[in-house]
Amino acid sequence: MTAPSPATTVIEHPAEWPVHDEESVARVTELVRRGRTFDYRHGPEIREIEGLFADHLGGRHALAVNSGTSALLAAYYALGLGPGDEVLVPSLTFLATASPLFLLGAAPVLCDSAGPSGTVTARTLTERITPRTRAVAVTHLFGHPAPMDEIMALARRHGLLVVEDCSHAHGSTVDGRPVGSWGDAAVFSIGGLKLISGGMGGILATRQTRHHELACLLTAFRQRSEATVRLPDLRPLADVGLGGNLRISPIAAVLAAGHMRQLAELVRVKRDNAGRLLSAFAGWPGIEVSAPAAGHTMGGWYDIVVEVDPDTAGFDRDELIRRLQQHGVRARVPMTGPLHRTSVFTGARPPTWSLYPEPVLREYFSYRPEDLPVSAALHDRWVSLPGTFLNQPCDAFLAGYREAIGHALADAGGAA
Ligand SMILES: Cc1ncc(COP(=O)(O)O)c(C=O)c1O
Repeated sequence: MTAPSPATTVIEHPAEWPVHDEESVARVTELVRRGRTFDYRHGPEIREIEGLFADHLGGRHALAVNSGTSALLAAYYALGLGPGDEVLVPSLTFLATASPLFLLGAAPVLCDSAGPSGTVTARTLTERITPRTRAVAVTHLFGHPAPMDEIMALARRHGLLVVEDCSHAHGSTVDGRPVGSWGDAAVFSIGGLKLISGGMGGILATRQTRHHELACLLTAFRQRSEATVRLPDLRPLADVGLGGNLRISPIAAVLAAGHMRQLAELVRVKRDNAGRLLSAFAGWPGIEVSAPAAGHTMGGWYDIVVEVDPDTAGFDRDELIRRLQQHGVRARVPMTGPLHRTSVFTGARPPTWSLYPEPVLREYFSYRPEDLPVSAALHDRWVSLPGTFLNQPCDAFLAGYREAIGHALADAGGAA
């Protein structure tokens, strides 16, 4: 057995994302000075971020709200999903793709992944369709687009609504079209560590005016709804709205707009950096990097993962994480998915879940760990690398990581 490299290494990491340029910082300062830290109306900052997303998606209606989770709730609400409806959701996704359905009483039906990118496909969705299926939510996982052409064809055949969760995939494309421009509704988180980040925020993009206006009523009663809602049967509701105050702050809108205006450059830099990082694993037996499918391009790159096949590599995922960490690489198990191994999907019963009668709980929230085996196996083999440091040029950091990865692989391989 080869001795591991002696010391735990420290690599200097770039500034934590989100990083903002001076222009955005000056705009935020000005908002704070003028007491414009909230917006009940539809002021220029909110119109700007919505306009940027609407243009990016080729003319959808865009509604800015306070998180991606809120945007998903508004999407499911606006599409009319409720008790008795089944919604197909990937098991490999962040919980918010599914959890807003809990508030509406619709049942999430978890679906397996098909291959190394971890996304669902028409085949894995078809396995779970029943007469009660009303909608499909797909996540463009870690920036990898789901195969939207076949998923849209499947949805058309079965009369299903399609929601795209694009929170990991700002700027990813399928056949030249951006993700988010395919389904009936698309959601982008623009919060936290996302490539486009205002700190907290979300965008709901919809094809139909009716869905946009219903979502507006749910998220922003009174002035904003009075400015936006025009359909004769909905407009009278603007005075009270439909129960939520899920408004984005103009500060978040300005910060996210600063990123959004640089989307093409951010994607270019990230793609270049991610390629250089991942090439440090190239040629190592049993370490796989999932390349985008033909016709797909990756934006976002929310998480950068490599898959370890222990039989070929001679070591497992946990061993590689341990070795990487020893050499200063902030590697970890990906935080995303599989949902079918989380609390509420394996039998935990929130005391307030009155929208779900007992038979529904038994049918939709009682998974076993071995269900959805592809998603589970992928997650058990994935190592996540801290991709959000790669959103900016970072040559010295990349060089340090590449060297550390080489040492970690040699140590893990030598110990095998
Ligand atoms: C795939 C996905 N969907 C939705 C969300 C929720 O977004 P937010 O944190 O803005 O509520 C996230 C957040 O990480 C996510 O990764």
